[in-house]
Formats: sequence, structure tokens, C-alpha cells
Amino acid sequence: MSVRLDGQAVDAAEGETVLTVIQAMGQRQVARNDHGQVSGAYCGMGICQCCLVRIDGRHKRRACQTLVRPGMQIETRVNRIAATEAP
Ligand code: FES
Repeated sequence: MSVRLDGQAVDAAEGETVLTVIQAMGQRQVARNDHGQVSGAYCGMGICQCCLVRIDGRHKRRACQTLVRPGMQIETRVNRIAATEAP
């Protein structure tokens, strides 16, 4: 299947998580927190909230707990609160 990662078409396999797709593309820093800081995934099991990305327009989706679907739109390093506060 194909998904879009930050606007780029990327191949993904059924059963893969969004996080594994992101990491397979070489991205280690995926999330931007409410203070504008960028971080990488930490726990990989849904606890730390360090992998929050925007999926299909919805903010703060856990990449490590979300399975890919065909045509999914994934955006990394975005945060609705940080974007609102930006000049
Ligand atoms: S990596 Fe910790 S919640 Fe996803």
C-alpha cells in the first residue's frame, strides 16, 4: 500500500505501524510538543506520548499505536498548539 508521509508517497506494508513507516524513512525526530520542542519516539508502546503526529488532519495521534491504512496522510513535527502560537 501507499501512504503519504509529510507529502511524500511512501510504501508501507499491511500491519505496520505509522511509527515503523516513519523510522524506515530514516526520521528519528517525529513529534513537536506543546512547547515547540521536537522529540523522537521513546517507549514504542503507547505510554510516553513522544510519537504524536497528525494523521488525516487529526492532531496528537500516537504513531506507535496506529496501523497504516492505504492513502493515510501522516504529518510529523506538527502541533496544533505550537502552530497557533507561532508568529
Ligand atoms: S513511542 Fe511512546 S507513546 Fe508512542
